[in-house]
Amino acid sequence: MMKFKPALLAGILSLACGSGAAKTIEVSQGYGLDFRTQTYTRQSTVVNGQTVAYRAYENIVYVANPVDSAYQTINIYIPEAYFNGGSINGYTAQTAPIFLPNQIGGYMPAKAGVPGKGGFGPSKEGQVDAMQVALARGYVVASPSARGRTAATGKAPAAIVDLKAAVRYLRFNDAVMAGDAEKIISNGTSAGGALSVLLGASGNQADYEPYLQQLGAAPAKDHIFAVSAYCPISILDHADAAYEWQFNGVNDYQKMDISMIDYHVERKLVNGTLTNEQIQISGSLKAQFPAYVNSLRLRDPQGRALRLDAQGNGSFKNYVASFLRRSAQSQLDAGKDLSSRNWLTIRNGKVSAVDFAAYARATGRQKTPPAFDALDLSSGENQLFGTATTDKQHFTAFSYQHRANAQATLADPQTVKLMNPMHYISRHIAPQHWRIRVGTADSDTSLAIAAILTAKLQNSGKRVDFALPWDVPHSGDYDLDELFDWMDKTVRQPRG
Ligand code: DHB
Repeated sequence: MMKFKPALLAGILSLACGSGAAKTIEVSQGYGLDFRTQTYTRQSTVVNGQTVAYRAYENIVYVANPVDSAYQTINIYIPEAYFNGGSINGYTAQTAPIFLPNQIGGYMPAKAGVPGKGGFGPSKEGQVDAMQVALARGYVVASPSARGRTAATGKAPAAIVDLKAAVRYLRFNDAVMAGDAEKIISNGTSAGGALSVLLGASGNQADYEPYLQQLGAAPAKDHIFAVSAYCPISILDHADAAYEWQFNGVNDYQKMDISMIDYHVERKLVNGTLTNEQIQISGSLKAQFPAYVNSLRLRDPQGRALRLDAQGNGSFKNYVASFLRRSAQSQLDAGKDLSSRNWLTIRNGKVSAVDFAAYARATGRQKTPPAFDALDLSSGENQLFGTATTDKQHFTAFSYQHRANAQATLADPQTVKLMNPMHYISRHIAPQHWRIRVGTADSDTSLAIAAILTAKLQNSGKRVDFALPWDVPHSGDYDLDELFDWMDKTVRQPRG
């Protein structure tokens, strides 16, 4: 394994180039990137009755020149066993994978995670979060903070740049830190799930380099080993069309009003019915979706084209429905009674058909059209695509054309590109292993989004474990045993 040897002296990084010539990078500020200078506290947590001791290295600034030193930090937790030559779950200080959970929600600024205080973990008494489980299973935990949309300096692509800088920090320090930086596994939920996918897709892409340089990110690569994502709110510039493809005809809504104070997400439900104008917009957006899907030239695992006709019907719709059918079938196989679900046709204990429109009615619409690029700039995503001087912007041609405010502006297309993993997923990206989960009761974005990601990844030769857990709403980290079984399997699999 190639390992960097960080040689940091008085703010100057020296590293050997392939040619043998010495390259010196001047670092203008006092944040050193050498993990060896960090201090720790001894902590422990109890998981399944077993005490796990670990060293906590907290609030490490992961770039030399942060623009927001509260939101460009990483917390690193290393099992104590790895300082005594010990092993956990077959892993050692040399081989332990690094679990990289981001805590991002709503594209808001996110603090670094702390075991026992995970943002998406089960909130019930006595249950443990993903970071605690990771430590118990012998993973090194590295949870980065990241900038978010409410800050002038947190607009797109700040959060993805920050996550990449955190990966570079871990890779740069690989030789002097327990854990194997060639085995970094990212995890996130919702906006954090989307960023987890984007982190995997965009490894080492030159597009992000100027931003990383400006921050003084560590001179290292930023590809990762594997990706876990729960309900990714991704492909934002096509998500409005995808949403109406699924929910067109569902005119009553229960809108989730997400207001946020700092990184704390506050959710309120507001009931309503679409206006005639909104119903028209829904139709126009739905009509855009087939051209987008068809442009992707996706194929199912059998190699059949995934397409939609002008009405939005066809093999892609059947593909999305097939995941719903699989989820329902697993419930039937476990003896559950699904006779009340009118969108399923069940014959002799087998799901024989899924009525996608009836499924959408049963789940319910949660967003008004356009769901993401709001005509009045009221969505969180409008704020994500703002700039340091303009808080909110449009990011699709459609919403810009139909804008409520004549003065509203359109985001720079390159910035929109930097947030969409579809531009980067190819055979050449590093992560071979992907796990995507979206609950069947989730209507924060269309199921088409995760299905498109899955097909694109599979068509690019990646292994994708994609499923729709039954009746699970918009949430993450609810199946930690399965998640870590999957991670162990991916780490131990021979390459191929
Ligand atoms: C999240 C939820 C949304 O509905 C959305 O549009 C963006 C982010 C979230 O929970 O992170």
